[in-house]
Amino acid sequence: MDNQREQFGSKLGFILAAAGSAVGIGNLVGFPVNAAKSGGAAFLMVYAFFVVVICLPVMMAEMSLGRHTKRNPLGAYSSVSGGQFLWKIGGWLALITPFMIAVFYQVLTVWLLAYFVGAISGNLQAMAAPAYFGNFIQSNSVFVYLVVLIFIVGYVLNSGVQKGIERLAKILMPTLFVMLMLLTIFVLTLPNALVGIKYYLVPDISKISPEVISNALGQAFFSLSLGMGILITYGSYVSRKESIAGGAKMVALVDTSVAFFAGLLILPAIFVFNPATDTSELSSSSVSLVFTFLPKIFLSLQSIVGYLGASIFAATFFLLVFFAALTSQVSILQVPLSAFQDELKLSRLKSVLSLGGCAILLVVACTVSFGMVDYFTNFTNYGNANKSFFDVVIDVFYDTILPLNGFIICVFAMHYWKKANLNAEMSIGDENFQGSFTQKYVNGSLSYVIPAVLLIVFINTVCIKFFGFSLTDYLS
Ligand code: PFF
Repeated sequence: MDNQREQFGSKLGFILAAAGSAVGIGNLVGFPVNAAKSGGAAFLMVYAFFVVVICLPVMMAEMSLGRHTKRNPLGAYSSVSGGQFLWKIGGWLALITPFMIAVFYQVLTVWLLAYFVGAISGNLQAMAAPAYFGNFIQSNSVFVYLVVLIFIVGYVLNSGVQKGIERLAKILMPTLFVMLMLLTIFVLTLPNALVGIKYYLVPDISKISPEVISNALGQAFFSLSLGMGILITYGSYVSRKESIAGGAKMVALVDTSVAFFAGLLILPAIFVFNPATDTSELSSSSVSLVFTFLPKIFLSLQSIVGYLGASIFAATFFLLVFFAALTSQVSILQVPLSAFQDELKLSRLKSVLSLGGCAILLVVACTVSFGMVDYFTNFTNYGNANKSFFDVVIDVFYDTILPLNGFIICVFAMHYWKKANLNAEMSIGDENFQGSFTQKYVNGSLSYVIPAVLLIVFINTVCIKFFGFSLTDYLS
């Protein structure tokens, strides 16, 4: 086996790096938006149920396959299956998906960086104006921030798994927790915050519909960075002294806690702004919430803490989400990067440069999809809607392929690699695993129930996105 493969330096380093990947825009924005629209704690309960029942076993399977093969997803599928064509498709999907998700995530991360700089330099008033966001995303300044971000991400990736990714996570994750706590405590002390807390924590079961349940599963799956090849790749850097089950549980706990606290920050903030807020009017899009709705809310804090205070609050929030997005971004790019290193035997620097070269054109195509270039703005039309290039990347890779990748990994791990091998890998570094409840649960659920659920979600998403109807239409 490859003795020179890099490794995370410690258990804490691995957990923080994996949590850094998991904690992202999905937790800090996607979760609060969904919770606000879908019954508060009722959504939280369905979400937490899926994290434990569906997502944790998939996470463990991905990490085990990675650690066993010590390869990137393409190499992992190939080495276990002896290069069989069908399984190679699974490997390619688990490689291309993170690459394409990284492309569109890069665009969002650039905007976050720009909004942080905007808030810290006293522009909050302008940022809260309705036309600001639309003008900003069509301005050339996005390219300046893009170049800055490319250098930051390239530098971290070129520094390696331990000195780059792990070190970044060790600095940014604790910083992120402290910032999140401080912002949350501050918001909770403001007038009307209680209305938001009640709205969030008193479950409204009546909002739970088949669609909400399906959203909660999608949100949980995405939030834990599943189906993106990340945990296969990170698993390949985990020492055989560590317990995979223990690590996965910690990552899920950290990720869900951050989502919970993000809800406790954003919902009361919305109600401080306007106690009569009708949350059904909130857009389901995280993008419009972060970049158009929240600046307005932050600006309104000036009546309580002054313009400087409101600007500091806004800057801290954007920096928080930027840090979360940055640690997610490096984790996802490490997947294709490790494939360049493993499969093409390129040095790290050459891999980083090749990856950057491949990604840059696509990132620019996504960046100009918001009005700058008509070809990419009106790229195509399906599901009764006009779609930009950016929309297509999200619809195909983010919404549709993720559950398919989850389905493939379950079938591969349980029916091709086989349960006994999964158990053997999970027992390494974890003497209590054999015979434990976790083992029984993982073995029982990963064989049929979880892949069946993921397959249904995949088919349903294809119907919704590309054919304009949902399977759940037939249930309600
Ligand atoms: N778990 C991440 C989030 O919640 O934002 C998902 C993710 C997206 C990870 C994009 C990495 C990434 F590049």
